[in-house]
Amino acid sequence: MILLAATPITPVPPTKCLRLGVLASGRGTNLQALLDRAALGEIPAQVVAVASNRRDALALERAQRAGVPALAFPRADFSSRLAQEQAVVDFLRENQVELVVLAGYVPVIGPTLLDAYRHRIINIHPSLLPAFSGTLHAQADALHHGVKITGCTVHFVTSDLDGGPIILQRTVPVLEDDTEESLAERILIEEHRALPEAIRLLAAGRVQIIGNRTRILQG
Ligand code: GRF
Repeated sequence: MILLAATPITPVPPTKCLRLGVLASGRGTNLQALLDRAALGEIPAQVVAVASNRRDALALERAQRAGVPALAFPRADFSSRLAQEQAVVDFLRENQVELVVLAGYVPVIGPTLLDAYRHRIINIHPSLLPAFSGTLHAQADALHHGVKITGCTVHFVTSDLDGGPIILQRTVPVLEDDTEESLAERILIEEHRALPEAIRLLAAGRVQIIGNRTRILQG
């Protein structure tokens, strides 16, 4: 049998200003890191829309403070999950979003969003995937399993939850006296570096998807 090599996919063409749509359910420190880096001109990108499934998400306030269109799409306001996701997609499209960034977004992404933004949805997860995937408690799990190194992962989102192609990872040592909070705090510092770095690579057209892996082209 001849195995055909997967053709590399470049998710977004190289651009000087990638239009980001951020989805967040909570406090939004990763969103803030993107807003700050963009304002300082440290990433060739701009956050142009923020959506949440929760009206009380601090992330929405952060977006409003930065003058970015921000809307809540609570599941209870829609007749189905599909209708809710379609409304999110419409909002992203209205704002000409090119790349969707999940930054602490709790709902599982369904086919409506996946199809609308194929190869153009990324997520940040607070572990070295595939370790501690599919959980909201990756930092506690790292402590529980006694790993000595953990970290964070930026990856493409597919129907395989936390299993899409990995773009980059940053490591964090687990200290003997770490609590869940102290470990989460140190991982978060790396998250705030990893996400902008991934966006820089994507905007430069340096990320190729090949099957379930990525190749990072030299700058
Ligand atoms: C982060 O730890 C991220 O890795 C996970 O959710 C958390 C979001 O934090 N997916 P914040 O809302 O960006 O502060």
